[in-house]
Amino acid sequence: VSDRDQMLPAARIGASVPGEDLPLPLLVLKRTALDHNIALMQSYCDEHGVQLAPHGKTTMSPGILRAQIAGGAWGITVATAQQAILCRSFGARRVIVANQVVGAPNLALLAQELNASVDFDLYFWVDSVEGVAELADAHARHQLTRPWQVLLEVGWPGGRTGAQTQEAIDRVTAAITASEDAVRLVGVSTFEGLLDVPRLKASTAGQPRPERDEVTPFLHHVTRVAAHLRAAGLLPADYILSGGGSSAFDKVTTVFGAVEAPVRVLLRSGCYVTHDHGMYAMLTPLAGLRPALELWSYITSIPEPGRAFLGFGKRDAPYDHGLPVPLSRLRPRSTERLSLAEAVITDLHDHHAAMNFTGDLRVGDRVVLGISHPCAAFDRWRLIPIVDDDGTVVDVLDTYF
Ligand SMILES: Cc1ncc(COP(=O)(O)O)c(C=O)c1O
Repeated sequence: VSDRDQMLPAARIGASVPGEDLPLPLLVLKRTALDHNIALMQSYCDEHGVQLAPHGKTTMSPGILRAQIAGGAWGITVATAQQAILCRSFGARRVIVANQVVGAPNLALLAQELNASVDFDLYFWVDSVEGVAELADAHARHQLTRPWQVLLEVGWPGGRTGAQTQEAIDRVTAAITASEDAVRLVGVSTFEGLLDVPRLKASTAGQPRPERDEVTPFLHHVTRVAAHLRAAGLLPADYILSGGGSSAFDKVTTVFGAVEAPVRVLLRSGCYVTHDHGMYAMLTPLAGLRPALELWSYITSIPEPGRAFLGFGKRDAPYDHGLPVPLSRLRPRSTERLSLAEAVITDLHDHHAAMNFTGDLRVGDRVVLGISHPCAAFDRWRLIPIVDDDGTVVDVLDTYF
């Protein structure tokens, strides 16, 4: 925490959040829940014989990433070359960029780090001939002494990235072979989370979830792609099969986990680490995860009966997959958390949240809220206090977005 950060109120270790020692709005992270989630997910992976490279983009916070590695994670997943270098500087030895990396400056960053440290174990994804060609080119330009290690991403029509057809897969693997070991295929990957979107949308809209499971058949397809590549001698025996966000990793574990050793299954879940009170509360396959993020705010105005405005908004809370969820309230100068009869956030402005409520809420009361979708919470806060069970700040996390 820098000198400038020390000036920010959130950095005051020992301050009491319920005791009104700190200005609001404030996003806090509950230490017990965080520690619990890290341990629970790691033991899930250990019990099922799969490895975990938590997605670092969720938090981009060295304190959390180090705790995940210390807790047994195989490595850290990221989305960009810059995040890879940052996570490296936080102490990650093994980094997987879950994207095709293109562009000379991006590849230069990664090549320089690979050349500088022999123990840096880097992986990323490819889905096109052009992507492989850029890698081969960068390999020669930076005189890399090791091959780029890549996973072939498999996608589906209308999805996001990834090779969708056998023809596309053949073209990419032919380009890898032609690279003469500048690029080495070490695994197959996908992100099934996007196939879960209908389930997700139904859940956030409070509608019944569709019965049809789109994820499992697609995961079987991915295993067949990998088996063919292995049979053709294009993958090593201990290749990596990687999938898994935080909503359907049970299906990844079941389908990929059925492929015989020495194949290594790698999950990349990110949001499990803080869980939430919205989207992931509805979708998680792992009972027992605890929501670790809380947003504290004052009621700043009650302009008409039953409608309050809170002193936070889009600048402070995620709103892409559900709005914040009011949990409890506190009276001025009281640390007692009281239940809320009925309260729902209906709209967010930059610095206002509209809340419909019943009961006797007053201006100056505080409302504690859960959030939905952790990824879009962390990037809004440079510093996030970690609080113990009674709301005292015990540590401060910094984030790097
Ligand atoms: C490629 C990839 N892998 C893993 C994840 C992590 O999923 P989740 O955010 O559900 O934990 C994401 C999230 O967007 C992703 O894009």
